[in-house]
Amino acid sequence: MINRRSFIKKSALFSAPMILPFAGCYSSGPVSSGKDAPVVSRTRNEIPNMAFIGIGIQGRGLLNNFLNQDVHVVAVCDVDKVRCADARKRVDDYYSRNPGKGTPGNCRMYRDFREVIARDDIDMVCIATPDHWHSYITIAAIKSGKDVYCEKPLTYNIAEAKAVMKAVADSRGGILQTGAMQRSGFEFRTAAELVRNGCIGKVTHVDCNFGGPSRPHRDYENPNNPAEGLPNPDVDFDMWCGGAPLVKYSDRLAPRGVNNFFPMFWRMDDLFGSGYCGDWGAHHLDIAQWGLGMDDSGPVKVIKSTSEIPSDPILGGRRQEGVQLVFADGAILRHNPFSTWGTVFYGTEGIVAVNRGKFAMWHDKACTPDDTVREAIQKGTFDGARKVAFYTRKEDGGSCEGAATAARREFLKEAKIQLYQTKGGHPADLVKCFKTREKPCSNEIVGGRAAVLCHLCNLSYVRDVSFDWNPESNTFANGTGDAKWLVRPEYRNGWKV
Ligand SMILES: NC(=O)c1ccc[n+]([C@@H]2O[C@H](COP(=O)([O-])OP(=O)(O)OC[C@H]3O[C@@H](n4cnc5c(N)ncnc54)[C@H](O)[C@@H]3O)[C@@H](O)[C@H]2O)c1
Repeated sequence: MINRRSFIKKSALFSAPMILPFAGCYSSGPVSSGKDAPVVSRTRNEIPNMAFIGIGIQGRGLLNNFLNQDVHVVAVCDVDKVRCADARKRVDDYYSRNPGKGTPGNCRMYRDFREVIARDDIDMVCIATPDHWHSYITIAAIKSGKDVYCEKPLTYNIAEAKAVMKAVADSRGGILQTGAMQRSGFEFRTAAELVRNGCIGKVTHVDCNFGGPSRPHRDYENPNNPAEGLPNPDVDFDMWCGGAPLVKYSDRLAPRGVNNFFPMFWRMDDLFGSGYCGDWGAHHLDIAQWGLGMDDSGPVKVIKSTSEIPSDPILGGRRQEGVQLVFADGAILRHNPFSTWGTVFYGTEGIVAVNRGKFAMWHDKACTPDDTVREAIQKGTFDGARKVAFYTRKEDGGSCEGAATAARREFLKEAKIQLYQTKGGHPADLVKCFKTREKPCSNEIVGGRAAVLCHLCNLSYVRDVSFDWNPESNTFANGTGDAKWLVRPEYRNGWKV
């Protein structure tokens, strides 16, 4: 065992004593991020004991990843007992095949995450529930002295993002990684480093390309398959809903059994998610923040969409594209529909475009986006500046890595700004930081601020509003907006964040 205090000396980042507050009792009730909780010290295992909370398709992927890291998986928790049993079997099978890594039979199953949080021998939790649960469980875990890997978007709304950032700060040394793992990608780091080192001059515009906002809740009745709406005895659906309203069970929200697809209905539902703004925005807006150097700040103005493309009533009549975020230096970030590119930076001396496995750069000339430019940079036919690198698919020749490397060789050889480079991906980065007590790549500020951007976009669509924003305090500015838009009006069953 390593005493927490031995970590204090090693930590370059935390000057305050590394003694964590321990919330003690976990009956449901507000999980306030306040400083009033009693503070106790605790010891950590040298190899972290780890628990997984929420084991749907993403949680399963993370479990497989973390099993290969230097951790011991000792608990799995899901309100769906079939998924929970499946996860435990995966752990036992893994440890049977790899006896040096852990002990089969040592992993316990839980339905109620509070029992996991209450276990003092657990050092780290991975949270991959639907978004509406992220912040409550994260704050409870951080307050109990556990480190956290929480999926993106880090929170369900802006008030929760503030609460999570505060809870980690108050813990004086708690470690949190958000699952915005594009930051572990070579092509994304290259894009952000090119922009941050001024290789395309001053950034004037950014495009972030993903689907539309959340939709009003409805009963997900399927006339072709009424069985989808029958209660599922394997799921504690009251607990699945948590602080959100208790809605009618549907297989579309919480698919039966161990599924192999991403359930999209809760993501799109106002009550549980924030549409694609939270789902993919948490990736592409996050890369925009990285490139703009805005990880500890944000936009000062949100301009609502004026798109005239008619919206389906099932989408709540909400516009699906065109919200703009304006930053203090005048850079304008625009949300457009899914495209070849996830994030595109336009500067006074060129363009950098990036997506998973895709990278391009043009140089020499100022480039501003319009429909013609956007189409040309998708196809690679843009001739408004010198093409430095372009890779979107194998027909383009070469590789994504080759394209990004070409740009690095030309522009980043003596780069002053070098961005955080993970080794082995986001889960491995958290495990490293468990030991070093340094802040990981997508820490609570990075993840919390990215979540704020997601929710600013979403709320502009949902309420059809423009407003001014104070990125210091994460509040509305200049008499615009309404603070009530940043919170869930009511949390059910005392699950208040
Ligand atoms: N980083 C990425 O690229 C990426 C990709 C996919 C999903 N995600 C994120 O991962 C999270 C999970 O997504 P998913 O597609 O796996 O969803 P999912 O619905 O398949 O899985 C969520 C699981 O959480 C369980 N759950 C719900 N409430 C719970 C509670 N109170 N306690 C314990 N378990 C609970 C559900 O029963 C379910 O098994 C989401 O936040 C999503 O945005 C991230």
